[in-house]
Amino acid sequence: MKVIKTIKSLRTFIGAARNAARTIGLIPTMGALHRGHISLIERSGKHGDFVVVSIFVNPTQFGPKEDLAKYPRPLRKDLRICEDHGVDVVFVPDAKEMYREEELTWVNVDKISEPLCGCFRPGHFRGVATVCAKLFNIVQPDIAYFGQKDAQQLAVIKRMVTDLNFPLKVISCPTVRDADGLALSSRNRYLSPQQRKDATCIHSSLRIAREMIEAGTANPKTIISKIRRIITAAKSLGSVDYISIVDADTLGDVSRIKGKVLIAIAARFGSTRLIDNLTVDCRTR
Ligand code: PAJ
Repeated sequence: MKVIKTIKSLRTFIGAARNAARTIGLIPTMGALHRGHISLIERSGKHGDFVVVSIFVNPTQFGPKEDLAKYPRPLRKDLRICEDHGVDVVFVPDAKEMYREEELTWVNVDKISEPLCGCFRPGHFRGVATVCAKLFNIVQPDIAYFGQKDAQQLAVIKRMVTDLNFPLKVISCPTVRDADGLALSSRNRYLSPQQRKDATCIHSSLRIAREMIEAGTANPKTIISKIRRIITAAKSLGSVDYISIVDADTLGDVSRIKGKVLIAIAARFGSTRLIDNLTVDCRTR
């Protein structure tokens, strides 16, 4: 496995694989790798790709009061995980390699970036879309793998790829969870034992919401208040950013539940912000 820090060397290395007619698979990450990330790597490996993982804690997607400085960076462990899972090359640029002192070009994906996390993290999706556009141009992958765990990010990236004609396919991979349902996240390590225990209410409330929809409840308000009741019963809950039911593709509001909907939650336990979601497809019933 090769570890590369510069865009120039990465291009040369991947160019050789491309000339050998390999399919290039890219898994963009911010490191602190867990089984969620590993599922993306494995999916790319199973597909037979030349597997490229990027590890870059992207400063432009963090707000001024967010956890950029304390975001975990266990690089040695991450490299071992990549090696153990058959990654061909890990790209670990520093911020200077990725951004000029004054970046003047940004990618904004309107509308889809605005609701849900967009309301609470201004500029976040601009940072995500911009760094992914850069990575797509640097790596020129045939396929890029993203997790459904970050459903809005996935929707933003898919739309950007369509709108800007990036010649690649985006594959979405299911959310990997702990046995008790909590979605794996690099931020789970910040939770105290009590918060970690209580945080399972996010997934259990999503499952109850899905059951309600499957049983025929079509008014989103009824479901949202049920979720709110479950979550606010958790002792260590800090605050709820949002509980929303939106169209799964456009992320627009729905007044009645029909078609494919996304139930999405962002809640804080202490200062740790957790997000999770489930998609329900009413058309398959
Ligand atoms: P990061 O949070 O490191 O996540 C990298 C990828 O792993 C994303 O596609 C995310 O959706 C996926 N992922 C995280 N937890 C997961 C889980 N429990 N199950 C399945 N997939 C999971 O998302 C980012 O980094 C950044 O925003 C990035 C796209 C790299 C741009 O900087």
